[in-house]
Amino acid sequence: MTTYTSNWLSPSNIALVKYWGKKPEQLPMNPSLSFSLKQARTRTSVSLQPLESKKFSFLFEGKESPFATRIAKYLDALSIELPWINDFSVLIESANTFPHSTGIASSASAFGALALCLTDLNRQLTGANPEEEKFFQAASRFARLGSGSASRSVYGGFAWWGKSSAMPESTDCYAIPVSKYIHESYFQLCDAVLLVDTKTKKVSSSAGHELMNNHVYKAARLTQVNQTIEQALQLMKTPDERMAFIDLVEQEALSLHALMMTSSPSFLLLKPGSLEIIEQIRDFRRQTGLPVGFTIDAGPNIHLLYWKEDQAQVHAFVKSELLYYTENGEWLDDQVGDGPIKE
Ligand code: DP6
Repeated sequence: MTTYTSNWLSPSNIALVKYWGKKPEQLPMNPSLSFSLKQARTRTSVSLQPLESKKFSFLFEGKESPFATRIAKYLDALSIELPWINDFSVLIESANTFPHSTGIASSASAFGALALCLTDLNRQLTGANPEEEKFFQAASRFARLGSGSASRSVYGGFAWWGKSSAMPESTDCYAIPVSKYIHESYFQLCDAVLLVDTKTKKVSSSAGHELMNNHVYKAARLTQVNQTIEQALQLMKTPDERMAFIDLVEQEALSLHALMMTSSPSFLLLKPGSLEIIEQIRDFRRQTGLPVGFTIDAGPNIHLLYWKEDQAQVHAFVKSELLYYTENGEWLDDQVGDGPIKE
């Protein structure tokens, strides 16, 4: 029996407008908008070998990983659609190009890369040869079933996931690339990730999303986030509205945390250091007039957003004012990336 392999390198992504809350089948309660990162990536290799006693193995950076159980379940669920999964021993090896659990959504790059491998293997095994757009839509849908935010990791530049009247071709099923709607200046956006606390486990995503189901502010959140994504898209069409864009993105990130703080049970994920950094960033913006701001996922780490042309000033600021509040002076510097690569 033939052996089949596929290798992909897929980026992590950072959401500017956040996916928070889901409907059944891992469909999003609201549309989200993100950009893929350049440095933070996962490299995955899937090999299908003749079926022996060992049906499945998952190695992360050469070692057994607790993530294996989640992946085994995922493959089991997918085998309904991809029945060939049951005909082989599935051997997966994966490694991150960034430190694991540093607050960068590693499940996004992990499921992005795995879904791309599976879509590629499906093409090899069934002889199906979808056009490129359809190939990535299929990969995005498979990625979504693993982790919602991973649906956006199969594209470079900017991606949009979730039905919205502001983006006619959008759908809840898979993410779509939206770079063509966004002004070229936004491709110079950078993301300096300030690692305030890497030990604290962020609220598990399933628990986090569930909080939205009966949230007292659910209706208000859905109204707000649909407006926010539409405004973000408008602002990103020109190079002139960077300050308004930064204000909007900060408000969106703080809304996510406001929702977590006021949910039942309540989660307070920001640390004193996170708040210090937020204050410092705002002071720096007031003093310099530079379009510099932040976004935050479901954790304490702060993503400092800035433009490449301001890098020297921002790096000096990070080093002199912000690293003090991080864990062991740790930070990662990243930027908008070109998307996944087949290796
Ligand atoms: C706050 O994609 O990790 O990062 O679908 O349950 O795997 P699951 O959730 P996940 O949630 C990400 C939430 C977020 C916002 C975002 O990336 O849009």
